[in-house]
Amino acid sequence: MNKPRETFGSRTGMLLAMAGSAIGLGNIWRFPYMMGKNGGAAFILIYIIMLVVLCLPVMVSEYLIGRRGGSNPFSSFDRLAPGSKWRWIGFLAVLASACILSFYCVVGGWSVKYLADSCILAFSDSQGDYALSFGTFISNPWKPLLYTLIFLGLTGAIIVFGVRKGIERMSKVMITMLFVIIVMVVIRSLTLPGAMEGVKYMFVPDFSKVTAGTVVSAMGQAFFSLSIGCGCILTYASYVKKEENILASSAWISFFDTLFAIIAGLAIIPAVYAIAYMNGLEPDVSAGPGLVFITLPGVFSQMPLGSAAAILFFLALLLAAVTSAISLMEVVVAFIIEEMHRSRKKAVLLCFAVCGVVGVFCSLSFGPLSDFKLFSLSVFDFFDYITSNIMLPVGGMLLAVFAGWRLKRANYLDELTNGGKVRIPRWLALTIYYLVKLVAPVGISLIFLNCLFS
Ligand code: TRP
Repeated sequence: MNKPRETFGSRTGMLLAMAGSAIGLGNIWRFPYMMGKNGGAAFILIYIIMLVVLCLPVMVSEYLIGRRGGSNPFSSFDRLAPGSKWRWIGFLAVLASACILSFYCVVGGWSVKYLADSCILAFSDSQGDYALSFGTFISNPWKPLLYTLIFLGLTGAIIVFGVRKGIERMSKVMITMLFVIIVMVVIRSLTLPGAMEGVKYMFVPDFSKVTAGTVVSAMGQAFFSLSIGCGCILTYASYVKKEENILASSAWISFFDTLFAIIAGLAIIPAVYAIAYMNGLEPDVSAGPGLVFITLPGVFSQMPLGSAAAILFFLALLLAAVTSAISLMEVVVAFIIEEMHRSRKKAVLLCFAVCGVVGVFCSLSFGPLSDFKLFSLSVFDFFDYITSNIMLPVGGMLLAVFAGWRLKRANYLDELTNGGKVRIPRWLALTIYYLVKLVAPVGISLIFLNCLFS
């Protein structure tokens, strides 16, 4: 138990692990659609403002709390504010991570299944289950459960190896592969006839589509996409060495995440447009499972080199989902190891068991349990709703309040500049501090109230 705490081995490894947490299903199936619906380049502009004004300061604070606290969320808060109630925010973060993981692994399971099927389709004459509709698959009483558990098992298998050999090594490999693959899919997608209409849909700025709702959606999307508010960044930051530059790291991660979201859009939207025009149909780019698991397989089946593109795309989806899932699982695992004094292996097994059971219920809510409702939502939607709309914004806001009001200003600035070793202009450091102290709590309360009442 008294082994020194693990750290990331290199700066690149740390950045790629955090970028891996941020880059996930949120980038692939939500961002491109949101961008198209909310006025293209106009949305990107608002998204970037939200990112810089609200999310980056919160991310910097979460990073800072994790590194200064040097422990899981619960203990990190406890060390920075000994004996106070603040550590229960840390506990809320652990709980939120477990809840997110429980429904995230269901969708992760679907990507395992679609990857397997697109391989079967490409390498044999059999249609496999591919011919089955998405709806038939997810409502099957046992198949999706199996895939959910395979995905969760895969995540656990990486985490068992620890921070350096598991998380860092796999994130490096997977995120590098992910970028290479997605660029290949982008090239295929953009070279289809008619693809430019899709590019226009994404980028042409249309300020008439910008409303108050757009601003709120941009904030919500930025929070989810950057993995802030539930201890993922905090936990990873607790494995970061004291000489890293917190501000520069946070800025890089946000940049990578946004870049990837735009690239993922270029892989998907133009292809959907090209194939729709070929068939004389209106392109359907609605977000979520429909786009990725129904529209895209149809698109791939109709384009030249489509079976290769399908394999690459679903592999990319799986890689993106796994690197995010490991960050969620690590929050829970670090908590179990440090607070319940269990070995890493036992912690992973416990997390697998608990999230597996909840995950199975989430998955069943598309089939046999579809009539079972919690507050009139299916189990899957319930977990999605309480985490994205309640736990994350509350977590993010409390984090900002803690960093801005409970930590001393001198300590905040000291940690941000590594005791003066990192040269950050004083005005910039102070701007960040006041964004955290004043702007973030108010801004986040606004999203929160909006989500709650709409
Ligand atoms: N950011 C990831 C995505 O875009 C999902 C994710 C991982 C997440 N960890 C998180 C979302 C923590 C919110 C909070 O898919």
